[in-house]
Amino acid sequence: DWNSGNVIAEQVAKIRAQVGTGKVICGLSGGVDSAVAAALVHKAIGDQLVCVFVDHGLLRQDERRQVEEDYVKATGIRLVTVDVREQFLTALEGVSDPETKRKIIGREFIRTFEQAQAELIKEAAETDGDPIAFLVQGTLYPDVVESGGGSGTANIKSHHNVGGLPEDLQFELVEPLRTLFKDEVRAIGAELGLPAEIVQRQPFPGPGLGIRIVGSITQERLDLLRQADAIVRAELTAAGLDREIWQCPVVLLADVRSVGVQGDGRTYGHPIVLRPVSSEDAMTADWTRLPYDLLAKISNRITNEVDGVNRVVLDVTSKPPGTIEWE
Ligand code: XMP
Repeated sequence: DWNSGNVIAEQVAKIRAQVGTGKVICGLSGGVDSAVAAALVHKAIGDQLVCVFVDHGLLRQDERRQVEEDYVKATGIRLVTVDVREQFLTALEGVSDPETKRKIIGREFIRTFEQAQAELIKEAAETDGDPIAFLVQGTLYPDVVESGGGSGTANIKSHHNVGGLPEDLQFELVEPLRTLFKDEVRAIGAELGLPAEIVQRQPFPGPGLGIRIVGSITQERLDLLRQADAIVRAELTAAGLDREIWQCPVVLLADVRSVGVQGDGRTYGHPIVLRPVSSEDAMTADWTRLPYDLLAKISNRITNEVDGVNRVVLDVTSKPPGTIEWE
């Protein structure tokens, strides 16, 4: 019968056998899969692993700190953070078409990861021992089935993975989660002592907040959305609803403004959309009937605390016909 301790022992042995004394690289996204995959590999081969985390500026509040501090503290993993916030803002300037945003974000992400990779390969070559010849991927069983079961090569839909791999992949893949489902991955992450904020994290799109600003992306808009999103997440957690909700995109309608009144003055601000959904697999979804009191609290907090937002609206569309994300 299934037991996370057994799976960990089994995978650790398998990783050791595959990697030997080789060096391994892994990109962390902040999500569950890459975090658990890297932790397993680290348990198996320790400092032969180095992880790369790209801060593209489209992350939610506190995500970078959770990876850099909590996750590193829990695992002892060697982590290199690449801060490319400026570069992404510049590349995305004036772009509002959703697919164009995705393409730019994906392209910049791969470029950044490849550069970090090249530097680490160079550094590893200058020290003794084996070169970096392995790349960790947090591929799960459903991904394997979906992509036709191919193994050992990169075969990942760009939609699902902003770190979509370059064609001329010179690494051998290490995929310790290939036989597992999401809830099993969470159980293993918990068993390995990873922070709950990461292990229990709800799905979050690779392009991040970039596809939750309807309109073009600016620093100011990102800051505003990050604040609103943090309020929503804190209130949903406080209400004990994290497990009932599949995810709750918080969307800034940056090109829409509406009139409001606050204090003695008229405001002309932006609406924030709440999109809480219930789902099994994100293929279909229903809007979650959140308690009115909770909605009122979230609305009050956002309009009081987030400068530039004077209206909060609730998305009551199922999927289909609406997608979960607005872009
Ligand atoms: P939609 O909006 O298509 O979303 O109903 C279904 C699920 O996929 C996530 N999503 C993405 N994930 N890159 C990702 O890694 C993307 O470009 C992307 N677009 C949507 C979405 O959050 C939901 O869980």
